[in-house]
Amino acid sequence: MPPVVELVAGARPNFMKLAPVFRALTARSAVSCRIVHTGQHYDPSMDRVFFEELAIPTPDVHLGVGSGSHGAQTARILERYEAHLLEARPDTTVVFGDVNSTLACALAAVKLGVGIVHVEAGLRSLDRTMPEEINRLVTDAVSDLLLVSEPSGLANLCHEGIPETKIRLVGNVMIDTLLRYLPVARERHTAEKLGLVDKGYGLLTLHRPSNVDDPTTLGRLLDLFDDLSQRLPLVFPVHPRTAAAVSRAGFQERIAPGRARLLCLAPTTYLDTLSLSAGAALVMTDSGGLQEEAAALRIPCLTLRESTERPVTVKQGTSRLVGNDSHRIRAAFDDALAARWPPGGDIPLWDGRAGERVAAEIETWLSQHLRS
Ligand code: UD1
Repeated sequence: MPPVVELVAGARPNFMKLAPVFRALTARSAVSCRIVHTGQHYDPSMDRVFFEELAIPTPDVHLGVGSGSHGAQTARILERYEAHLLEARPDTTVVFGDVNSTLACALAAVKLGVGIVHVEAGLRSLDRTMPEEINRLVTDAVSDLLLVSEPSGLANLCHEGIPETKIRLVGNVMIDTLLRYLPVARERHTAEKLGLVDKGYGLLTLHRPSNVDDPTTLGRLLDLFDDLSQRLPLVFPVHPRTAAAVSRAGFQERIAPGRARLLCLAPTTYLDTLSLSAGAALVMTDSGGLQEEAAALRIPCLTLRESTERPVTVKQGTSRLVGNDSHRIRAAFDDALAARWPPGGDIPLWDGRAGERVAAEIETWLSQHLRS
């Protein structure tokens, strides 16, 4: 019987990372692959549509945890994944990124002695007020094989005392998915269907607690985006978390559908988002994934955060940190429109082959550990 590798996903940004690893692992006969979905994200627009577009098979196991506070959600995943592990006993668990599902499944696995592979290990914002930073630190501390997407990850893990023998730089699996689907995404002409022309609009996304939880900050940002959209139409797919914050603050009319220049949409599918980002004049976002995608597409990216765990997107890519300060955002917006922006370059190992490197590392790790 080949060793069983379980790939765990739970939230939207996990799905495009899982897809290339699943494909590369299943192309090898040496392992048997199983997909576990925690159910952290569950709206069809945040979940099912990604499985359909990226041809990921229906998960073998669905834990159905849903939303909750950090403690409640993490605890539910931990409890349900542990129960599953006790029954299913995989040889290793592969977790992706930095969401609550990543942390909870890693914790369940380490306590039961199941090997853990962390894909996208080592990223650090050095901002411990971000829930994702805690998820990254703890997941890396308990992982057996740490697969890193950019050089900063190697330095961070060494600094934390993680043995070098556990760490490999493999590149960015999310960019595998981007490169694979870019031609199909372009064919969708998503912007055109919204009445926009290529490079004649910006793409905006916003969902971090630091930007949406405080009504004053949120209101100020919505006013700013409304104003900027008079100069360049902005497409704004609204994350459910943001929609909930907008509604709590009583700002629904500011993101009402039907606005001509600040086009607020329901969450867009993977292919529509890629189609929109590839055709945009600029991207404004607080999403780590979109920062990386903009760097790969070489599109100016105004990163609406004070720090990034993905410094390569600033050093070698097209991202600039602008926080949520109106003056800095306006200044960067002017620079992007005036083409005063670094063009960006190729980022090493963001080459469409990271999934294969991940699969090879997992196979090697299994062969060493199952023997001992
Ligand atoms: C999560 C990740 C974040 C990632 C983001 C991408 C954590 C700590 N955060 O944030 O790193 O950037 O996913 O989307 O894991 N909701 C729905 N439908 C859904 C899912 C969520 O309406 O399908 C709403 C609920 O009100 C929920 C809220 O969004 O309470 C937050 O969802 P949650 O999964 O806790 O975190 P995200 O903000 O989505």
